[in-house]
Amino acid sequence: MSYIILHLPISSSGGGILGQKVAKCKEKLIFPSAACVNSQLVKPKFGLYRFLMVIIVVLFLISTFLITFHLAKMSDPYIKEVLSLQGNVSRGYEIFQINCAACHGQFADGIVGPSLEDVSHRKSRISLIEQVISGKTPPMPKFQPDYQAMADLLVYLENLSKN
Ligand code: HEC
Repeated sequence: MSYIILHLPISSSGGGILGQKVAKCKEKLIFPSAACVNSQLVKPKFGLYRFLMVIIVVLFLISTFLITFHLAKMSDPYIKEVLSLQGNVSRGYEIFQINCAACHGQFADGIVGPSLEDVSHRKSRISLIEQVISGKTPPMPKFQPDYQAMADLLVYLENLSKN
């Protein structure tokens, strides 16, 4: 070991072994040797790897958040109970005529409220239930149908999309 160190010329910049390696690479930039090219290619690869890792972590966090959010909604006792029931379309139609048709039209084709055709393509069952019971989008009022009435309304709304 000591033999090699003794025979290395001490560079004027004081960089020692490291300083010389960097200097060598800089010198050869015009005609880069394989070693220099390789050392330049490694860096962007590492950057891409890190970038992909960050994306994977972000996607993982987003999906974890969405799954937790969905599970939290599913565990809502009202939603759980409604989803467990079998709805009846014609009863759903009657409930709709009494409570909703004034705004959404007799055939749910829209008056004050928007047309509800294809609404179940746009919204999940959970968000349809929430739309009815939350009162978050005035002027649509907050409804409090019992479990069965909500299940009936839900099949009626879903049935609108099949035609
Ligand atoms: C006072 C009028 C009114 C009544 C009554 C009403 N709605 Fe609405 N509804 C609206 C309005 C206005 C919107 C649009 C809200 C928004 O997104 O800003 C809406 C939106 C909706 C949506 C979402 C539509 C979409 O494209 O995202 C659904 C589903 C819905 N209503 C169902 C019902 C049901 C079922 C009833 C009866 C239980 C009902 N509504 C009663 C006015 C009403």
